[in-house]
Amino acid sequence: MSQNSQESSQPFIAISKRTFLIITAVILAIALWLVSPFLIHRYPIKYANIDEHFRYGSIGGEDSDGIPYWIVKVMPTVFADKLPGEGLTSLGFIQEPDHELPISFVRSTNSLGIEVITQNCATCHVGILRESATDKNRKIISAMPGITVNLQGFIRFLTESAADERFSADHLMPYINAAGANFNPLEKLVYRFIVIPRTREELLRQRHDFSFMDKQPLYGPGRVDTFTSYKTRRYGFPVEKLADTELDGIADYPSIWNQAPRQNLSLHWDGNNNDGSERNRTAALALVAPTTIDFDSLERLRNWLMDLEAPKYPYEIDYALAQKGKLIFDNYCASCHTETGGRLGEIIPIEEIKTDRGRMDSYTYELASNQNLTFSGITYQGIDQRFSHFKKTHGYTNSLLDGIWLRSPYLHNGSVPTLRDLLQKPEARPKTFYRGYDVFDQENVGYVSNVGEENGKQFFFYDTELPGNHNTGHLYGTDLASNDQDALLEYLKTL
Ligand code: HEC
Ligand code: HEC
Repeated sequence: MSQNSQESSQPFIAISKRTFLIITAVILAIALWLVSPFLIHRYPIKYANIDEHFRYGSIGGEDSDGIPYWIVKVMPTVFADKLPGEGLTSLGFIQEPDHELPISFVRSTNSLGIEVITQNCATCHVGILRESATDKNRKIISAMPGITVNLQGFIRFLTESAADERFSADHLMPYINAAGANFNPLEKLVYRFIVIPRTREELLRQRHDFSFMDKQPLYGPGRVDTFTSYKTRRYGFPVEKLADTELDGIADYPSIWNQAPRQNLSLHWDGNNNDGSERNRTAALALVAPTTIDFDSLERLRNWLMDLEAPKYPYEIDYALAQKGKLIFDNYCASCHTETGGRLGEIIPIEEIKTDRGRMDSYTYELASNQNLTFSGITYQGIDQRFSHFKKTHGYTNSLLDGIWLRSPYLHNGSVPTLRDLLQKPEARPKTFYRGYDVFDQENVGYVSNVGEENGKQFFFYDTELPGNHNTGHLYGTDLASNDQDALLEYLKTL
C-alpha cells in the first residue's frame, strides 16, 4: 500500500516537475525576449576601410555623449519646424547614397544596450566639391574642412527641440513606433520612462552649457567656437562668468591631412599645442568625455592622417606661370609656410600678423591649466595620456599650405573668401560674402562666395564687421603687382 502510494505520488511529482520546467522555460524565454534587444543590438562601429571608419566609425562616447537612436531618427520629422529645410542635410550634413545616416553620425550601442548616435571627427573634417552648379559628380573629400556643416545650427536644433513641450514620451512614442522601432513591452517602458526623459534632461543641460552662443555672432557653416564649450562642458566653467572678450573666438575648421610633418609644430590656429597626439585627443573631447574615448580608434585615425596627402588641384593649371609664381612664393611666403623656410610653426605675434584677435583671446591661461590636468590617471598602451603641452600664446601660427586651394575661406576665422582676396589689402577684401556653397571658383581660387541661394537653399551671410569676424592683417603679398599676384596664385594651386 505504502509502495503503491509512493508509486502513485512519483508520476505526480514528475509531471509537476516537467510543468515547472516548462513554466520556468517560458518565463525565461519571455524575460530573454524582453531583455534581448539590450544584449544583441550590435551594429558595426569599426570599419575595416579606414576612410569609411573616419566617416562612420565610433571614436567612443556612446556612454557619455550618445543620443538614443530612435530619438535622433524621429526628431527631424517631429521638429521639422526647427530645421532650415528638410532633414539633417539642411544643416549641411552630407548624405551618401548607400547609408542610412549622414556622414559623421555613428549608430552603435552603449553599455546599457541602448542604441545611440554619437558623432566623430568627420563632423567638421569632411567637405564637398563641385565644379559648377550643374556638376552631378560632387566629390566628398575626407580631412578637408567641413565647409557645409552648420554645427551651431545642429546644437540649436537639438537643444531647442528639448525645450519644446513636444519632447515628451506621449508625443514622441507614436513617431518612434511609426518609424519601425518594433519595441517589445520592456523596451517600450524603458524608452517611455527612462530614455526619453533622461535625454531631454541632458539636452536641456547642454542648452544651458551652450547658452554663451546667445552672446555671439552666428557661426554659419564651416566654423565653430573651438574652446568655449570645452570650458563649460568639460571643465565646468560657469557660463555666466565667461568674459565678453573670450567669446569672439569662432574658428574656421582646418584641414587635417598630412599630419606627419606637423607632429611637433605649434598648431591649432593660435599655436597653443605642439604635440600631434594631444591635438587629436583634445579634438575627440569636442564630442566625447575623456573616460570614454576609444583610444584604438583614435590611434588608427591618427596613423592614417599622418601620411594622407592633400588632394591635387583638379582643374587647369598654367605651369609656366606657376613656375614664375614659385619665385615670388620663395621670396615672400616660404620662410613662414614651408618646412625648409625656418619659421614654420612659429607663432607670429598679434601686433605683427594683425588678423582678428578674437580667437587668440578666447584661449585663456585658466583653460590651459585645466586642460593640462585632463586624462590624468588614464593610460593607453602603458603611456600616461595626461595633457601637458597646452600653453597660452599671443599670436597665430604659421602652418603648411598643402592643399590650400581646398581650404577656403581663409584665415583662422574664415573671413577672406578666396586666395585672390587674401592677396588684396584688407580694405579691398570683400566686406560681406556668402559661405557654405560647395561650387568652386577657379578664377579666384576658393569656394564661390557671391551666391546667396541655390534651389531655395540659403547660404550663410558673413559680415566682417561683427566681433571676431574681421578680415584684417596678413598683408604679405598685398603690395605685389597684379601680374605677380596672378603668378603667385597659379603657384598656390599646385601646393
Ligand atoms: C566640432 C568640430 C570638430 C570636430 C568634431 C573635430 N575637429 Fe578637429 N578641429 C576643429 C577646429 C575648429 C580646429 C581648429 C581649432 C582652433 O585652433 O581653434 C580643429 C583642429 C584640429 C587639428 C589641428 C589642425 C591644425 O593644423 O592646427 C587636428 C589634428 C584635428 N582637428 C583633428 C581632429 C580629429 C582627429 C578629430 C576627431 C577625433 C577632430 N579633429 C574632430 C573642429 C573639429
Ligand atoms: C611672417 C610669417 C608669414 C609670412 C611671411 C606669410 N604668412 Fe601666410 N600666414 C601666416 C600666419 C601666422 C597665418 C595665420 C593667420 C591667421 O589665421 O590669423 C597665415 C595664414 C595664411 C593663409 C591662410 C591659411 C588658412 O588655412 O586659412 C594663407 C593662404 C597664407 N597665409 C598664404 C601666404 C602667402 C601666399 C604668403 C606670401 C605672399 C604668406 N602667407 C606669407 C604667416 C605668414
